[in-house]
Amino acid sequence: MKMILDERGKKYILKSGEEFQSDLGIVKADVLENAEVGDEIKSHLDHTFKIVKPNINDFIDLMERRCSILLKKDIGYVLAHTGLGAGSRVVDAGTGAGAIALNFGNVVGPEGRVFTYEIREDFAQVAKKNIENFGIENIEVKNQNIKDGIDEDDIDLVFLDLPKPFEIFEDVLESLNVGGWLAVYAPYIDQAKLSHRIAKKVGFYDIDIIEIFERGLEIRQHGIRPKTRMVGHSGYLLFARKL
Ligand SMILES: C[S@@+](CC[C@H](N)C(=O)[O-])C[C@H]1O[C@@H](n2cnc3c(N)ncnc32)[C@H](O)[C@@H]1O
Repeated sequence: MKMILDERGKKYILKSGEEFQSDLGIVKADVLENAEVGDEIKSHLDHTFKIVKPNINDFIDLMERRCSILLKKDIGYVLAHTGLGAGSRVVDAGTGAGAIALNFGNVVGPEGRVFTYEIREDFAQVAKKNIENFGIENIEVKNQNIKDGIDEDDIDLVFLDLPKPFEIFEDVLESLNVGGWLAVYAPYIDQAKLSHRIAKKVGFYDIDIIEIFERGLEIRQHGIRPKTRMVGHSGYLLFARKL
């Protein structure tokens, strides 16, 4: 896979046989076909572009999606909080376009496995295509309602991003290894609160609700200060552990 990254930070994944067009010019398909990662190529407007190998975040930023996707600030925290690593086994629902599923697959590596449930067939198809295009083979997209049951056991993390996740906490507990994690993404505080109550009732331990804020810095000639706009609320993250 190859990508053009311009100096404004705009990214374009190159598709085989297609020419590249932007406001900075056109590059013919055969030029792109022969270009290697690291090469510089020129558009018909004499603009120079660099060919880059896209990483997982570049790919996710540009992949097809039909619903909102989780933000990096939340994905990163889930990975860090649950200590996911090579060889881990993960259950994920709903898949959506596959943003967090791809991150799980990337982290657990070839020895690990990700089972991602998506109730909608059209969304499951998009996610399957995204995962195939990224070229990762340890993720299984299941076009199933996770509330009909979790087929897998020996699981290290169950991640739920769907309405009323608490309805399946008993099933989740059953599928997890001792020491395994349940993680829930809930846009509304009411859902997070109910998830906390039910996780406790079902027998989870170490239950936390966390909200992550992201604010960049504005770098100007007369000084540096926090940006006035920030990525504020997206959702609450609930974590609970099986002991
Ligand atoms: C906000 S999207 C998920 C985004 C995704 N987690 C990501 O990584 O960007 C929520 C998804 O959950 C799916 N969904 C809702 N209820 C479900 C269920 N019971 N089982 C499986 N998928 C479900 C929806 O169809 C939708 O695609």
